[in-house]
Amino acid sequence: MEASVAVEVETMKALMLTGFGGYEKIKLQEIPKPIVSDDTVIIEIKACGMNFSDLYTRQGIFTHGVKPPFVLGLEGAGVVTEVGSNVTEFKVGDRVLCWNFKYGMWSEFVKVHKSQCFAIPENMTFTEANCIVTNYLTAYFVIMDFGNLRPGQSVLIQSAAGGVGWAATQIARSVENVKIFGTASSSKHEMIKENGVTHPIDYKNHDFVEEVLKHEPSGVHVILDCLSGVDFIRAQNCLRHMGRIVHIGISNMINGEKRNILQNLKVWWQTKNINIFNVIMKNHGICGLSIASIFENEPETFRNTLEKIMNLYNDDKISPRIDSVWSFDEVVQATKCMVERKNIGKIVLLPKKDENTELVETFQN
Ligand SMILES: NC(=O)c1ccc[n+]([C@@H]2O[C@H](COP(=O)([O-])OP(=O)(O)OC[C@H]3O[C@@H](n4cnc5c(N)ncnc54)[C@H](OP(=O)(O)O)[C@@H]3O)[C@@H](O)[C@H]2O)c1
Repeated sequence: MEASVAVEVETMKALMLTGFGGYEKIKLQEIPKPIVSDDTVIIEIKACGMNFSDLYTRQGIFTHGVKPPFVLGLEGAGVVTEVGSNVTEFKVGDRVLCWNFKYGMWSEFVKVHKSQCFAIPENMTFTEANCIVTNYLTAYFVIMDFGNLRPGQSVLIQSAAGGVGWAATQIARSVENVKIFGTASSSKHEMIKENGVTHPIDYKNHDFVEEVLKHEPSGVHVILDCLSGVDFIRAQNCLRHMGRIVHIGISNMINGEKRNILQNLKVWWQTKNINIFNVIMKNHGICGLSIASIFENEPETFRNTLEKIMNLYNDDKISPRIDSVWSFDEVVQATKCMVERKNIGKIVLLPKKDENTELVETFQN
């Protein structure tokens, strides 16, 4: 009888979603380290980004068809540690950002296809790199491509203090002489003004449509809508003729830690029948945007635009804001920070917070 040889499997820490539900469904677990293959690279993750869509995912609202258990996280940044035999674009030691819209990035090491990573400039921190794809790329497509914002025009940015909102404000202010309306909790108004919002709106105490029309009676030229439901319908009342509204999210579906089915149905119901007659008579452009499906269907556009964002960064035209950094075992506090609407800019998780003190450039934590 042959003696069996025990093969030691290397393991690593990762944040797993063990089922749909509340915070307790996210668990820090020890899982096997990925093994490199032909067209892939292995990256040691130094920092990974938290996005609003991680809230939809945990609650089971929207998951790209992926079912738990799986490692959470859409994006990360770190150092290449191994490359597959077909990879010539990257080498060991390269600093990169990476993404996977089917999750898996909240982990000490990740394996991604070479098309899912991008070199970052020397002076870009790993925390900043996490703002590039989900925040700046989204913002660029909204403001410049779909929105086609031009000098002298005006824009309304919903959730202007969030990751995407912060980026969208900076992209919008790069266009000359633009009026920027931005909604946010009132405690964030000073910060968003510094970032370029010319008209902050306290949406909790004031009607955002009335506030916009007070200063821009014909309405704004471009609206970034990430709220959906009644806010998407109402926003059309402050969009001028030939204006464009770009719909990117369903934030209104989140109402606390656990999934609220009634709230979800309400938001879905409110937007299921767009009044097409209204759209025609008001000369409105209604667009939808998903960076995940741009990556899948228009990969060249995705990469070319990423290149443009890196150029804006190198020319000091954009500056990502990190709200706070948290270790993997603080993931629940980090998530609460977003659910409780406290963040200004990006929330970032660090697999090894203690070993990366130089990365801890925090404003709040
Ligand atoms: N389609 C795409 O490809 C794409 C890509 C990236 C992001 N998005 C969407 O863009 C939006 C922003 O994403 P993000 O990752 O940058 O997140 P974020 O804006 O940083 O999200 C947190 C902030 O959203 C605001 N908010 C509004 N409604 C909320 C609610 N129901 N619960 C909790 N907070 C709420 C809060 O700020 P205030 O209350 O102070 O405003 C909160 O601080 C989300 O809707 C997301 O789904 C879409």
